[in-house]
Amino acid sequence: MRIPRRLRSREPGWTTTADVIVVGSGVAGLTTALRLRRRVARVLLVTKTVLDEGSTAWAQGGIAAVMSPEDSAAEHVIDTLVAGVGLCDIEAVETLVREGTDAVWDLIALGAEFDRGDTGQISLTREGGHHRDRILHAGGDATGKEISRALIAALKRVQDDPGIEVIEHALVVDLLTDAASRVCGVTLHVIGEGQVDGVGAAHARAVVLATGGLGQIYASTTNPPVATGDGMAAALRAGATLADLEFVQFHPTVLWLGEGSLGQQPLISEAVRGEGAFLVDGEGVAFMQGQHPLADLAPRDVVARAILRRMRETGTDHVFLDCRHLGAEFLERRFPSIVDRCRELGFDPATELLPVAPAQHYASGGVKTDLRGRSSLEGLYACGETSCTGVHGANRLASNSLLEGLVFARRIADDLTARLTAGELPETAPVDPGGDRELLRPKRRLTVQRAMTAGSGTVRSAASLDATELALAALSVRAADGDGGRKGGPKSWETTNLLHLGHALTRAALLREETRGGHVREDFPDRDDARFLHHVLLSRSTTGELMTRVLEVPPENLVGLDLDQAADPRRETVGQE
Ligand code: SIN
Repeated sequence: MRIPRRLRSREPGWTTTADVIVVGSGVAGLTTALRLRRRVARVLLVTKTVLDEGSTAWAQGGIAAVMSPEDSAAEHVIDTLVAGVGLCDIEAVETLVREGTDAVWDLIALGAEFDRGDTGQISLTREGGHHRDRILHAGGDATGKEISRALIAALKRVQDDPGIEVIEHALVVDLLTDAASRVCGVTLHVIGEGQVDGVGAAHARAVVLATGGLGQIYASTTNPPVATGDGMAAALRAGATLADLEFVQFHPTVLWLGEGSLGQQPLISEAVRGEGAFLVDGEGVAFMQGQHPLADLAPRDVVARAILRRMRETGTDHVFLDCRHLGAEFLERRFPSIVDRCRELGFDPATELLPVAPAQHYASGGVKTDLRGRSSLEGLYACGETSCTGVHGANRLASNSLLEGLVFARRIADDLTARLTAGELPETAPVDPGGDRELLRPKRRLTVQRAMTAGSGTVRSAASLDATELALAALSVRAADGDGGRKGGPKSWETTNLLHLGHALTRAALLREETRGGHVREDFPDRDDARFLHHVLLSRSTTGELMTRVLEVPPENLVGLDLDQAADPRRETVGQE
């Protein structure tokens, strides 16, 4: 299967120009744009639907940061490295943690209101893999919504500023590149009025992709419908390097709504377990006890694997979360949105067991960047879930994602400011890259999702991954034959993006013949540090082949880490609170 350089679309009917284009309006995109404003002459922020529609607003649990005198940066770093199962970039993790606390205080100064205790101190809780209370939350279980609200309010305060323009309902189709393969803008489709309507071209000295994740590649996910990997797919087609795509995080406790439930599913935050809820099987056995020193609060991949194992052993498709002992008053106060949603769907967490099963939640990999957010293509940056900075390794530690978006957005804005001021990244003209253009019709989306879920999902094997590759290759032939028509539209571009990323993800998963973090192979059930202490890098050749390389991880990455979490005298074991 080949990957084309561009999707099929109309030729741009309008153009606009900026210094920097920021694509996406979650925590990463908004933070980048706000910090760039006034430092560079013209920032263009484009978002696929409306400003608060992306994954950030759905984040429940919170944002992790060292805020308590009982906590330390060293401990947050160790927890992150252990969760990442040996594949984190230590420098990236240290940067995240070191700069995270100030970034959170700046967010508070900007107007974000986190939950506080009786004496006014910020309330901190715990989630899987954390050995300290370090998760800030807002509105109980609506942290992302509050962060999104605060950032959008800050943007609205400067809306009339000529230095920043916002275009909503704008789907980025592809990246524009110049004769030297530098990224110099995007093609985008805007559902608007007047001049900025239909397909256009936005030219810029740099582009920042902050388009979130790719959850819609699977039949069920906690991600919103907009999470179709548009930024990652456009970067792949343009020749950028992607990394760690095989490490997909399946959240252990997603409300199970019955076989065949499609699309975005309700998340039951890990913070509910942080407050004492625990998993049981159909017989009422609390099966996480004895599996890991942290039991129900083990890192997310460990809990998800234990659930899958228990489901297989008992021949069921879900297990249960027991929150009943926490009581209605506490649950309603601490988790108002979750309780409301469960009750709307006919489940009362205060009186009933909640049926749960793992579902796709987060892409730990993405567009590979350095610590300044620069990708392998000059002029292209990536931030947040779209990126792979190295902080997550094989499995992201809970509540590190909002923090990553915040910290690396600031670094990107600072790097861009310095480079543009120094006259780097000059304006250049795009060239027509030629070559094939593909398009799948929207109704093929379910075929992509089913192939990915069956073969490249929670549990994989060589046979299942081969079957997925074959199914995707058949779709690719259709796409090349003009399946989606000549002009395209948002749904067909999204569907084709899912196809291209599905191909890359499945290839990476085939190459990794071991089980580590979010990547589970039933034919290779153990971790294999001797063969697979490396990252799988993916990129498109100039003729459209998917090329893979490995990037070795220095063995010192493992020094001092107990990835199996055997008893560690430095750490207390967390029981149920
Ligand atoms: C959750 O609340 O369990 C999700 C938090 C996260 O994804 O980090």
